[in-house]
Amino acid sequence: MLAGKRVLLIISGGIAAYKCPDLVRRLRERGAAVRCVLTQSGAEFVSPLALGAVSEDKVYQDLFSLTDEHEMGHINLSRQADVLLVAPATANTLAKMVHGAADDLATTVLLATDKPVVVAPAMNVRMWEHAATQANIAVLKDRGVTVIGPEEGDMACGEYGMGRMSEPLEIAEALTSFFHDGARLSGRRALVTSGPTYEAIDPVRYIANRSSGKQGHAIADALRRLGSETTLVTGPTRLPDPPGVNVVHVESARQMLAACEAALPADIAVCAAAVADWRVATEAGEKIKKTPGGEPPPLKMTENPDILHTLSNAGNARPGLVVGFAAETENVIENAVAKLARKGCDWIVANDVSPETGTFAGDANTVHLVTADGVEDWPELTKKAVGARLAARIADALDAAHD
Ligand code: PMT
Repeated sequence: MLAGKRVLLIISGGIAAYKCPDLVRRLRERGAAVRCVLTQSGAEFVSPLALGAVSEDKVYQDLFSLTDEHEMGHINLSRQADVLLVAPATANTLAKMVHGAADDLATTVLLATDKPVVVAPAMNVRMWEHAATQANIAVLKDRGVTVIGPEEGDMACGEYGMGRMSEPLEIAEALTSFFHDGARLSGRRALVTSGPTYEAIDPVRYIANRSSGKQGHAIADALRRLGSETTLVTGPTRLPDPPGVNVVHVESARQMLAACEAALPADIAVCAAAVADWRVATEAGEKIKKTPGGEPPPLKMTENPDILHTLSNAGNARPGLVVGFAAETENVIENAVAKLARKGCDWIVANDVSPETGTFAGDANTVHLVTADGVEDWPELTKKAVGARLAARIADALDAAHD
């Protein structure tokens, strides 16, 4: 059910918009409060009057309406919802979302939101199959947008194929399971580390590693999708912040540790960051000068704090379930088992990071989950799928501990 959920339904201009009053009805039947935002072209296919009547709420259309801005404001509109549902999502609206265009109320709200976004695409089969639309869908999925449909069937334009908007009942069902899955970790706090750390040598140079943050970010996103209040502490990456996650950006291992400690208490901690084991003992205050014919500067190293070890041994502040990673280039399982004992965590996710595996910065990962019960070999999965599977395993473990 959708009881108590606030759905902001954004209706863009496709013929499938005529199904939206029915969609509003289906959502409300399940207990959701629905507020509509209608684009100018959407209003060619469905009337604001019909939407207002079925939603029993005002229908918002104009970015520059003084009354609307005064009463609600586009930022509030985007925030006072539990989910933004774009249905129908036309090829044009999807493209605008990818590029961050904000030239009307609907796209401005989509750009300003910090809430999960679900889209139900609807368009002609050729438009759906076009490389541009497929690339746009891939980008949106990558950013955490949930896509419902489209379906195959007869289209209003007379053609047959993929591109028909899912039926209102199916969209309502999909949204219900979106929230149901999202409830598994509700009330739980999760902490995830991700990315590399940068350890300064002087004000312009640093020591880093090849981590892209893809794996850690995917885990934070997956935990958030299951409803946990998630903090992601990340070293420098090129990735966008996962939506709905509290993201703390740091550079060094010491900053990462401080941010993790500030995020406690937590029920779950997953340390996926590639934290530098060592840093330069004394960071030079000024850029180290190269002198003609001079010796390269000796870099004396010192050990960094071990974040995983610290969290695993934090006494009363220890998260209930602590998961570490092991990045190995040889004897992967053996080293991971030893690491589990040495760090004092509950599980270790072991992965081979030899250059030929493409694990660092790639989109796929082959991991082995090491727990007290033994070793599970997972097949090669996308990093997002590893995140989803790990989050589900974490939810299972917390459920079992609760029973
Ligand atoms: O970021 P991607 O490009 O997607 O790549 C993903 C990944 C390869 C970085 C990721 O899957 C991974 O393996 N992360 C752990 C990297 C690592 O530092 O592994 P390690 O075996 O050196 O460290 C063991 C564990 O201790 C890790 O959980 C690490 O986060 C933690 N650690 C290590 C050192 C330190 N000072 N503090 C720590 O918390």
